[in-house]
Amino acid sequence: MKIVITGGAGFIGLRLARRILEIGRLHGPSGKLEPVDELVLFDVVLPAERPSGLDERATLVRGEVADRDAVAKLIDRPDIGVFHLASVVSAGAEQDFDLALRVNLTGHIHVLDALRRVSVPGNSCPRHVFASSLAVYGGLASGQVTDATRQTPQTTYGMSKSVGELLINDYSRKGFVDGRSGRLAAVIVRPGKPNKAASGFASGMIREPLNGIDYELPIPLETVMPLVSYRTVIDGLIALYEIDGARLGDDRALNMPNVSVTMADVVASFSRVAAHRKLGKVSVAVDPFVVSVVSGWPTHLGAVRAAALGLPPEPGIDAIIRAYIEDYLEP
Ligand SMILES: NC(=O)c1ccc[n+]([C@@H]2O[C@H](COP(=O)([O-])OP(=O)(O)OC[C@H]3O[C@@H](n4cnc5c(N)ncnc54)[C@H](O)[C@@H]3O)[C@@H](O)[C@H]2O)c1
Repeated sequence: MKIVITGGAGFIGLRLARRILEIGRLHGPSGKLEPVDELVLFDVVLPAERPSGLDERATLVRGEVADRDAVAKLIDRPDIGVFHLASVVSAGAEQDFDLALRVNLTGHIHVLDALRRVSVPGNSCPRHVFASSLAVYGGLASGQVTDATRQTPQTTYGMSKSVGELLINDYSRKGFVDGRSGRLAAVIVRPGKPNKAASGFASGMIREPLNGIDYELPIPLETVMPLVSYRTVIDGLIALYEIDGARLGDDRALNMPNVSVTMADVVASFSRVAAHRKLGKVSVAVDPFVVSVVSGWPTHLGAVRAAALGLPPEPGIDAIIRAYIEDYLEP
C-alpha cells in the first residue's frame, strides 16, 4: 500500500516517515495489514538534501495542498493511507488569515475529496489521520479540558483545526474516508530552527540551554502547559491510524497523551537529567503577543479516551529531555 504524509518534510512528518519505514506494515483500506511499498513525503518546502533514514520506498514530492490537481495526482490508488500534517501553524495563521484558510481548510478538503474519489464504498475506505491541536480549545474553555469540552478556539489556527475535525467526522459518517483526528499538545524538543508556532519557546527553552546558549523565555515561569515528546506523538499517531475505526464511533477526534508542567518544572528537570552538562541560563523576558496566544490554550489536556484506546502515554519531562539528548547531542 501507499502512505502519504502531507507536510512530510516537517518536524513531525520526517520522523513519522522514518518510523513507518521501520515498521514496514500498516492496515490498508480493506482492514488487512499490508506492506508499505510506497511512502510519499509531500511538502511545499523540501530540504536541499535527501534526509537520512529514508530508503528506496520513500519519495519526496514538492507540492501544495491548496493545489487541487497536485493533491489528486498524489492520492492516486485505492490502497492508500494518509497522515495529514501540512498546515499553516499558529502564529503564521494569526499573521495571514487568507493563507490559513486556503491551506488549512481548502487544502484539507482537497485531501479528503481525493481520498473520497479512490475509496470503494462498503469495500475499501482509506484511513486518514489529521494532526489537530489543543488550540481548538480556548475562550470559554481555558484551564482543564477533556475530550468532551466545547470548542471555542481563540485563534484562526485553532478554528481551522476544529473545522478539520468536523470535516473528518462527516466524511467518515458518509463512508468516504475512515478518518481520525489527534489533538496534540506542544510537541518538543524541535531541533534546529523554530517554525512559526507560538509554542516555539517550549522547545527553545530546552534546546538552547542544552546547547550551552542562554535563553529568554517569553512567558512567566509559573505558566502551566501541556507538552509531549515527538517520540510519543509519532507512536501515538501510528497507534491512532492502526485503531479499528469502529472503536471510534461517530466522534473521530481525541486528545492525545501529554504531560502538564510549569516552565519552572522544565528548568528544574535540567538538574536531574543534564547536571553534568555546561548549560545556558534561562531568564524571563515576557512577550505580550506570545502570552496572549498561550493564555487562550488549556493548561491541562485530559486524554482519558486515548488511554482507553491504548495509545502510548507520555512518560514525562525528564524522559522528554533525556530523549532529546540521546537523539541529538553527545552523551
Ligand atoms: N509541533 C507542535 O507543537 C504541534 C502541536 C499541535 C499540532 N501540531 C500539528 O502537527 C502538524 C505537524 O507539525 P510540525 O511541528 O511538524 O510542523 P512543521 O512546520 O515542522 O511541519 C509542517 C510542514 O507542512 C508543510 N506545509 C505547510 N503548508 C503546506 C502546504 N500548503 N502544502 C504542503 N505542505 C505544507 C511545511 O512546509 C512543513 O514542512 C501540523 O499540522 C501542526 O499544526 C503540531
